[in-house]
Amino acid sequence: MSVTTDGSKVVLTHPDDKTSCVTILNYGATVTSWKLKGQEQLWLSEAAKLDGSKPVRGGIPLVFPIFGKSKTDDALGKLPQHGLARNSTWEFLGQTKSNPPTVQFALSPEIANQELTKLWPSDFSLVLTIELGLDFLKTAIEVNNPSKTEELKFNWLFHTYLKIEDIEDTFVSNLVGMKLYDQLLQETYVDKHPVVTFHEEKDLVYKNIADERVIQVVRRGEPVHTLKRHNLPDAVVWNPWINKSKSMADFEPKTGYEKMLCVEPGHVHDLITLAPGESWDAYQLLYRDELKYQAIE
Ligand code: BG6
Repeated sequence: MSVTTDGSKVVLTHPDDKTSCVTILNYGATVTSWKLKGQEQLWLSEAAKLDGSKPVRGGIPLVFPIFGKSKTDDALGKLPQHGLARNSTWEFLGQTKSNPPTVQFALSPEIANQELTKLWPSDFSLVLTIELGLDFLKTAIEVNNPSKTEELKFNWLFHTYLKIEDIEDTFVSNLVGMKLYDQLLQETYVDKHPVVTFHEEKDLVYKNIADERVIQVVRRGEPVHTLKRHNLPDAVVWNPWINKSKSMADFEPKTGYEKMLCVEPGHVHDLITLAPGESWDAYQLLYRDELKYQAIE
């Protein structure tokens, strides 16, 4: 069986290589583990809550309908940081393909966290498709506006926590020349650094990155993660470093920031607006590749 479920989580194992597998919690439809040829690719806090009491600290939480806290939209502004998808139990729709093993999860206001849908009474329908390749993990989202009369306004983001060996000798490439909003400095500027390095807390929201631009996480000249995006023009690069890690109760061990790096593809710079009946889709593809340093246009 390449797909098994115990009612609270779903595990996919690749039929041609049993050491490649992915685990998805129904809560938040959060990917909590992805092993590629036996090697874990995602970081998960040792104190992460996996019982539905709070969003998972690690793996791939899903951010919808708002990234951060909204300051401009009244209804979205009532929702907690990063919205309601990561705090809702999704419906497991089942397996849609046997090889590569592919499954789907769905979320709509009827089954989402009722405390939160009360705050944001919009209609929406989400379908998440997770495909486990021999050498990749693809997470795809389709957002539909089922309303007959109202527009649907939202952000989307895959809050991907990548596992790394050592933050101090790791960099992120192919973002040079991109405009970004620095959430710590609260300033917008163009990144002039050839690569993004980490020696302190970083919370950077890169904007309008073309689909063709792959983002790579490189350690000592070796690309350890490659990330392709479709329809996700923005990317957050986040490492909490020492003090912020201490301030998060579910972040353990406190030195965990050395072993993780969030690269989060999304559509967060502005809101996507769907007219009644319209839909929107996007995906993130994680895989290993050779070093691809891309020149800026
Ligand atoms: C990142 C944000 O996406 O998520 C950071 O850019 C934030 O500002 C981080 O601190 C973690 O957020 P949370 O809500 O999971 O603690």
